[in-house]
Amino acid sequence: MPRPIGWISTLSKDGIGNLAPYSQFQNVSYDPPMVLFSANRRQSGEPKDTVRNAQDSGEFVWNMATFAQRDAVNRSSQDYPFGVDEMEKIGLERLPSTLVKPARVADSPVHFECRYMQTVSLPGNGAGAVDVVFGRVIGIHIDDRAFDAEGRIDIVRLRPLARLGYLDYTSVESKFTMVPPHRDPSSISDMEGPQGAQRPVRTASLA
Ligand SMILES: Cc1cc2nc3c(=O)[nH]c(=O)nc-3n(C[C@H](O)[C@H](O)[C@H](O)COP(=O)(O)O)c2cc1C
Repeated sequence: MPRPIGWISTLSKDGIGNLAPYSQFQNVSYDPPMVLFSANRRQSGEPKDTVRNAQDSGEFVWNMATFAQRDAVNRSSQDYPFGVDEMEKIGLERLPSTLVKPARVADSPVHFECRYMQTVSLPGNGAGAVDVVFGRVIGIHIDDRAFDAEGRIDIVRLRPLARLGYLDYTSVESKFTMVPPHRDPSSISDMEGPQGAQRPVRTASLA
């Protein structure tokens, strides 16, 4: 089944950037907005750089990964030594964030600026473990090119990337709309958040 890509940028204690994809990524809640990503520890038992940086700095950024960015996403997964900045290595343009220090991938049409909340470390096989990192979304950026003529996010045009099994991927190329039975479409706060929360905003701070 498709899993959205958490293309996560972080900053080390020494101020060096890091970028890596995590397909074990999801939203947890819309009120308040929270997300998680899950990182398998290395063979050595060490946490991955993204986890280390998020914990040390208390911040991370989710960058929407699109079909057009698929090669860069793939390349950013290379296991460079700690302290190597993947955005620099790959030649990705960056944008400063507004509320947190890690940079954003300039070409991504949507970004979530996140404040690190906590890590739940689950036991794995043998010496392994899985670090599930939770963050609260404190700021959202949506590029103008993401909106259709009615001011709604045109998700099909953005083609967000998702990971399948094996080494297969897909992207959002179609959608359909369904209204729950006996419901007024304007009153779906239990599905999307409080009234108005689903209205598009071009740049929003949720802090
Ligand atoms: C599309 C994609 C999805 C990935 N998803 C995960 C994941 O969910 N969890 C994980 O531990 N590693 C995942 N990886 C591997 C990491 O990206 C890789 O280990 C990377 O080097 C980690 O970088 P970091 O140490 O800078 O955080 C994925 C790789 C790709 C290409």
